[in-house]
Amino acid sequence: MSENDLLRVVDYHKHFHVNKNLYIKAVDGITFEVRRGEVFSLVGESGSGKSTVAKAVMGIYPANKGSIYFKDRLISEKRAYAKAKKVLQKGIQIVFQDSAAALNPRMRVREIIAEPLKINKLFPTKDALMERVIELMGQVGLDPLFANKFPNEISGGQRQRVAIARAIGINPDLIVADEPVASLDVSIQAQIINLFQFLRREKAFTFFFIAHDLSLVRYISDRVGVMYAGKIVEVATAEELFARPIHPYTQSLLSAIPVPDPAYERQKPLLAFDKREFNPNGILKTVAEGHQVLC
Ligand SMILES: Nc1ncnc2c1ncn2[C@@H]1O[C@H](COP(=O)(O)OP(=O)(O)OP(=O)(O)O)[C@@H](O)[C@H]1O
Ligand SMILES: [Mg+2]
Repeated sequence: MSENDLLRVVDYHKHFHVNKNLYIKAVDGITFEVRRGEVFSLVGESGSGKSTVAKAVMGIYPANKGSIYFKDRLISEKRAYAKAKKVLQKGIQIVFQDSAAALNPRMRVREIIAEPLKINKLFPTKDALMERVIELMGQVGLDPLFANKFPNEISGGQRQRVAIARAIGINPDLIVADEPVASLDVSIQAQIINLFQFLRREKAFTFFFIAHDLSLVRYISDRVGVMYAGKIVEVATAEELFARPIHPYTQSLLSAIPVPDPAYERQKPLLAFDKREFNPNGILKTVAEGHQVLC
């Protein structure tokens, strides 16, 4: 724990009851922190609990056990969340894979981007508000001509930019991005990722990023946590994790990344992960500075 931690997740558990006798341990005791100014990423296979963690960070899922702190305020308990709600609404914004689809179809682009600014009463006059909206559109690479369009009149990549402009408008401390580019074309993905890089460098935003695509994660992250079956099995700086993966699941994930050598690529071994190598009762052990592995 340090002063620099914006978000702290401590032994957080989330169980979903399917019926009286059956429940799913979606998140089964994870601990990590996101420090100011960094990009922290979670990777892991489908169903490993990544989105549940993202929602928990937004205060949507109270903990069954453990806790989550944002700026040192407890947010993973119902009553504490109600108290911290204002701070959370200003402090955290989320971008989903399909946040573009969630835009209100009856609102114009400028109204969509202006809404959080209005709710937080950040601009006293209509002109100042509109000026900020146009500025935000510029930052995400949207032509101001789109301001009067409706979501169904623009492309998917442009809609995702609208969602991002809406998210960054109030200058949140933390942006949670859950597979924000997975639904977009590769060329558009690159544009959005470059936009995130810009926001981070120039605006000092902190990102909690969730993705499947490991080459992308390697490119944008400072630190990476690898999730498997509701647990973090390994966490390290991106550099360290990709150079020295230790947990067998991380090794199998990394073995699937393409290398730019066709001859090697054709005969390279893909490591299959054997579930028996996963110990659900294991604990994270430090193997090098900032590098922890579930043992
Ligand atoms: N509201 C819910 N009710 C019941 N079960 C849920 C709920 N949300 C998630 N789950 C279950 O919890 C587990 C983790 O789901 P989660 O969406 O967090 O996975 P994920 O890692 O984000 O997967 P993906 O990569 O496919 O998005 C899954 O088994 C899922 O079916
Ligand atoms: Mg998900």
